[in-house]
Amino acid sequence: MSPTPLSQDELKTQVGTAALHYLVPNEWVGVGTGSTVNKFIDALASCKTPIKGAVSSSEASTQRMKALGIHVVDLQEVTRLAVYIDGADEIDGHGCMVKGGGAALTREKIVAAQADQFVCIADASKLVKVLGKFPLPVEVIPMAAPEIMRRFNAMGGQAHVRLKDGAPLLTDNGQHLVDVTGLQITDPVSFENQVSQWPGVVTVGVFAHQKAHVCLLGTEAGVQTLSF
Ligand code: 5RP
Repeated sequence: MSPTPLSQDELKTQVGTAALHYLVPNEWVGVGTGSTVNKFIDALASCKTPIKGAVSSSEASTQRMKALGIHVVDLQEVTRLAVYIDGADEIDGHGCMVKGGGAALTREKIVAAQADQFVCIADASKLVKVLGKFPLPVEVIPMAAPEIMRRFNAMGGQAHVRLKDGAPLLTDNGQHLVDVTGLQITDPVSFENQVSQWPGVVTVGVFAHQKAHVCLLGTEAGVQTLSF
């Protein structure tokens, strides 16, 4: 009889726990957002590696860490993070990612930019050849949303404002999110450069400049480590 395949939840636990090996003793860790990162946070709470504490990328991760007794400080109190651990909605073979499914992309990009190493944790379904399968999140200033959506539509995408309970979702920064489907992001660096310059774009969910250095991919055969 063949063994029961691991659930997506078990694959996330696998990579969340494996990420503990990337902690640098007596240093700060940056912590992302999402269901995979929640597994990392749970593992971090009982980890024996001494760390100075954590910098969080969202209110949700801050609350979870504080509830588990993890010391959390603001990014402004830290000069450099030894490592940043976060999930992704998609990652390509070069470590470029689409992020923001959990609406935390702006703080994630800011925290990642202050880290020496970005370790992405993801289940195998997130690995893609070309970014664009997952709707691309873009955080925007609300008054700019219609024009930004027109520009994505002109590129061949279909853009809409993300809703929550029938109203535009508000990010931790009090802004709106536009999700774009139907894109094929073949050159993530140029795409990130281009869209980042549009007036009213706060953050585009393509992480090509803040790409992953390592990806821990949860597979049926165990954790696969990809280095970029
Ligand atoms: C949040 C993110 C997450 O990392 C991304 O959405 C993946 O989440 P999950 O681990 O729940 O699949 O970018 O803004």
